[in-house]
Amino acid sequence: MSLGFRSSGMAGDPTVFLIISRRSIIFFPVEMATMFKKRHVLSMREFSREEIDSVLDLASSLEPFARGKKSDMLAGKILALLFFEPSTRTRMSFETAMKRLGGGVINLGPAEGSSISKGESLADTVRVIGGYADALVIRHPKEGSARLASEFSPVPVLNAGDGAGHHPTQTLLDLYTIKKDSRLEDLSIALVGDLKYGRTVHSLAYALSLYGADITLVSPLSLRMPEPIKSDLSSKGTRVRETCDLNEVVNNVDVLYMTRIQRERFPDPVEYKKVASSYRLTPEFLANARKNLIIMHPLPRVDEIAPAVDATFHARYFQQSFYGVPVRMALLKMLIGGGA
Ligand code: NCD
Repeated sequence: MSLGFRSSGMAGDPTVFLIISRRSIIFFPVEMATMFKKRHVLSMREFSREEIDSVLDLASSLEPFARGKKSDMLAGKILALLFFEPSTRTRMSFETAMKRLGGGVINLGPAEGSSISKGESLADTVRVIGGYADALVIRHPKEGSARLASEFSPVPVLNAGDGAGHHPTQTLLDLYTIKKDSRLEDLSIALVGDLKYGRTVHSLAYALSLYGADITLVSPLSLRMPEPIKSDLSSKGTRVRETCDLNEVVNNVDVLYMTRIQRERFPDPVEYKKVASSYRLTPEFLANARKNLIIMHPLPRVDEIAPAVDATFHARYFQQSFYGVPVRMALLKMLIGGGA
C-alpha cells in the first residue's frame, strides 16, 4: 500500500513519508512530492534545476526497486503507452517501472490494430485512453504532438519523443547517469552526431544549461544544432562551441554523448547517405582521453561506437539504459503516486 502523510518531523523540515513496501520508508520533502502532481512532462525547457534534482534524488531512493525489490507503491494505477514510432528502451523501461511498483500498463499497440487506422484523430484517441489510465506516455513522429495530446488529455502526458523535438524523460536518465559517475555542475561535455534531428540532445542541452555546463557541439555541417536552441543556450550564459572534428574534443571533455544519425527524419535518402558514417568512436580514439571520461549514448547505436569500446572503462551506455527504470519510477511516483 502507498500512503503519504505529513510528519511534524524536524524543525523547518516538513517531510512526507512514502510507505512504499512493508519494510521500506522513504522520506521526501512535501514540496517535492507534490510539485509534479497531475502535471504534463513535455519538454526540458519547463523544468527548473530544483525539480530535476528532486526527480534524481527520488530515483536514487527507488533504485533498489528497479533491481527487483518488491513494492506496491503504484498499485491500482494504470499507465497507457501510445507509441506511434519504434521504441525498445523507452517503452519497455516505462512498462518495467510501472510493473515493478505494482501498477498496470495498457498498450495501444501498432496503429494498424487500433482505431487510428480508421482515421481517428490523436485528440480523440487521447481523450478516450485518458479515461482508462492515470497517465499517458506518447511517442510520435510529429514535433508538437505530445503538447497537442496534453491539451485533450484528462490525465498527465509524458512526452517519450516527438519527432525531432524533445525527449525529456531520456534527459532525466542521462543526467542521472552523469551524476552517478561525476557531477552535473560545471561539466565539460561533447554532444556528437545528429544534432539537427536528435531530440535527445535538444532536451539534454537545455538541462545542462541549468548546471553551468561547457558544451561542445560536434556534428557534420548539415546536422548542426538548430539556431533557436543555440541562441536559447547562449542567452542563459552557457558556453557553447561548434566543430565538425571529434578528434579535436575527445581529450578535453568529461562526457562524450554520442548519437546516431536519425535516418528516418531525412526527407532525402541521398542526403542521409552523405553523412551516415560521419563518426565512429574506436578504442584508439580514446588513447589520450581523460581518465574519468564517460561515453554515453541514448541507443540504439548503428556504427558510431565500435563494439570494442564496450569493454573499456569509459563505456556507460548500457548502464545508462538501465537507469531509465528508476528515473521513470520516480517521475511516475511524483505524477500519479498516492500520498501528499
Ligand atoms: C532515442 C530516441 O528515440 O530519440 N532513443 C531512445 O529513446 N533511447 C535515440 C534514437 O532513436 O536515436
